[in-house]
Amino acid sequence: MTKIHNSVSLCLFVILINIIPHSANETAPTIFILGDSTADVGTNTYLPGSTVRADFPHNGIDFPNSRPTGRFSNGFNSADFVAKFFGIKRSPPPFLFLLTLKPNHFRKHLLKGVNFASGGAGLLDITSSNLTVVPLSQQIIQFSTVRDNLTALIGPAATDTMLSKSLFFISIGSNDIFGYFMTNSTMPKDQYISILISAYSYHITNLYKLGARKFGIISVPPVGCCPSQRLIQKLINGVDGCFEPENDFALSFYTALDNLLLNISSQLPGFKYSLGNGYRMAIDVIENPHASGFENVDSACCGYGLLNAQGPCNSTASLCPDRRKYLFWDSFHPTKKAAYLAAQTLYNGPPYYVSPINFSQLAKDY
Ligand SMILES: *[C@@H]1O[C@H](CO)[C@@H](O)[C@H](O)[C@H]1NC(C)=O
Ligand SMILES: *[C@@H]1O[C@H](CO)[C@@H](O)[C@H](O)[C@H]1NC(C)=O
Ligand SMILES: *[C@@H]1O[C@H](CO)[C@@H](O)[C@H](O)[C@H]1NC(C)=O
Ligand SMILES: *[C@@H]1O[C@H](CO)[C@@H](O)[C@H](O)[C@H]1NC(C)=O
Ligand SMILES: *[C@@H]1O[C@H](CO)[C@@H](O)[C@H](O)[C@H]1NC(C)=O
Ligand SMILES: *[C@@H]1O[C@H](CO)[C@@H](O)[C@H](O)[C@H]1NC(C)=O
Ligand SMILES: *[C@@H]1O[C@H](CO)[C@@H](O)[C@H](O)[C@H]1NC(C)=O
Repeated sequence: MTKIHNSVSLCLFVILINIIPHSANETAPTIFILGDSTADVGTNTYLPGSTVRADFPHNGIDFPNSRPTGRFSNGFNSADFVAKFFGIKRSPPPFLFLLTLKPNHFRKHLLKGVNFASGGAGLLDITSSNLTVVPLSQQIIQFSTVRDNLTALIGPAATDTMLSKSLFFISIGSNDIFGYFMTNSTMPKDQYISILISAYSYHITNLYKLGARKFGIISVPPVGCCPSQRLIQKLINGVDGCFEPENDFALSFYTALDNLLLNISSQLPGFKYSLGNGYRMAIDVIENPHASGFENVDSACCGYGLLNAQGPCNSTASLCPDRRKYLFWDSFHPTKKAAYLAAQTLYNGPPYYVSPINFSQLAKDY
């Protein structure tokens, strides 16, 4: 899989139904975001030497002022849109950016939430061992310092209350699946999935111990359908279409994660969750693109060569004419429109896509 760009990152997720989000009336919850490039709003920009970044054009071309912010997107990403559905303007800023602020500004920001997500990150530390990124384990350590800072600021009781009402949005797992295939692992699928699920269980339990109660989680999309993986399939096997072995992993991952969360919720008092089926959301769009207004679901909008996936999305890359008609922005990531549809479904979608409750229900007090 030598053609994979070193921007080991993830794919997409999406949806087709158009549900009108109910106007957020409840007070918006504080949102903490963890995960990989699908939720990164600039973290890696603050990591000297990181090669997994997107802080240059054409990224950000549809962001306010066409500004590249480090988001792996033409505009806002799913973390931004999830926040928006909860009545917040966009994702809270990256933790590493907050660290550059003066202490009083830093503390003021904490009350509004933090984004820890880092492109290239995985559930397993080894997934990003060759990259300068912040793996999930490290993101949780960063969150624990934020919790210390909140405790110093508003006291332990108010911190517990605030965190118990906060939404923890997590989008991770794709890079672990890419890693399995890139290293030509011979481990049986079930064994690898069970390692990933143990890691997820460990991370969620740690967040719970630190006060998190409401988890909004999206599972891995059909990563084998990313332009980068379609390209490999074409160059190596000479056929068009998705790389199905990776999709099988993504599907098994969803089933195992669904079981894990059900199990955890019966063991940890007050634990509440909503799991988005990223696989189903995206595959339904890929199989029926016109229903959600897409015309191209196999090529990158921004890139080079075959499927526009043979070179990175940079300032001299070729750009598709209408970005709203493309599912993929670059060879790994969804467009702004796809991210919007995914967030909309997470927030207000039916149990077919998000269960046992949707994010809007998750936010309600209980
Ligand atoms: C918002 O909530 C208040 C109090 O619960 C209610 O009276 C009002 O009608 C709601 N507004 C909307 C737009 O739902
Ligand atoms: C936040 O907490 C960490 C760890 O307890 C501490 O080192 C840091 O100084 C605190 N930052 C601020 C601005 O209070
Ligand atoms: C990291 O790089 C080494 C040496 O190139 C390689 O053998 C190993 O498979 C890589 N690890 C991962 C997780 O990609
Ligand atoms: C994995 O296998 C492919 C195809 O046989 C090969 O080109 C590649 O170098 C291998 N990668 C690693 C990390 O061993
Ligand atoms: C549920 O969790 C418990 C405790 O972590 C574990 O022992 C058990 O095997 C799990 N059951 C299933 C079905 O995953
Ligand atoms: C963009 O990527 C292409 C293909 O790798 C490369 O040839 C070109 O120099 C890059 N452009 C910039 C501005 O970095
Ligand atoms: C999502 O949850 C809301 C709030 O409980 C509910 O009213 C709505 O019907 C759900 N959406 C769908 C499409 O099931």
